[in-house]
Amino acid sequence: MAEPETTSGPDLTPAWRPGDARADAASMLRVDQAGEYGATRIYAGQLAVLGDRQPAAHLIARMAAQEQRHLRHFDAMLAERGVRPTVLQPFWRIAGHALGAATALVSPQAAMACTAAVEDEIDQHYSEQLEALGTSDPSLSEAIADFQADEREHRDAAIEAGAEDSVGYPVLYAAIRAGCRVAIELSKRI
Ligand SMILES: [Fe+2]
Ligand SMILES: [Fe+2]
Repeated sequence: MAEPETTSGPDLTPAWRPGDARADAASMLRVDQAGEYGATRIYAGQLAVLGDRQPAAHLIARMAAQEQRHLRHFDAMLAERGVRPTVLQPFWRIAGHALGAATALVSPQAAMACTAAVEDEIDQHYSEQLEALGTSDPSLSEAIADFQADEREHRDAAIEAGAEDSVGYPVLYAAIRAGCRVAIELSKRI
């Protein structure tokens, strides 16, 4: 009688399964790092167009520095936890910069409209994550809550700096929020 076949080779069992708390936290960290990376690219694109003379540029540079802090923190958490970044990173690099440059080319107010839309979406996204996490991952929740406060400030500053005076604000705002939602859903998964 033949011996039952033994299998050898690499174990292909996924370390994390959907629904597993660690899988959820890994996916959250991945999308958050992608989002903060995208934010740094949007502001880099805006600053590339606006230079450093416009009043808007000072505000953008300050927000960009805060995004760098957010990104550094999530970069470190990815490394610490052995979570890979999204494979879409090279795409966000280009898309983020293009979005920033395009809105800044329209006007400084359109650049602010972009920030208002992105930050509203991120604010909602972070609220949803905080609710989902509960008390399961305090270090991740702490970072998210910390950064969410900055994102809300960015949104308020953008409105104050004339975001709503931008030509076609409702359309621009809705389009950018929709784009962010697509980016978020993709970055969670791949
Ligand atoms: Fe941020
Ligand atoms: Fe922000």
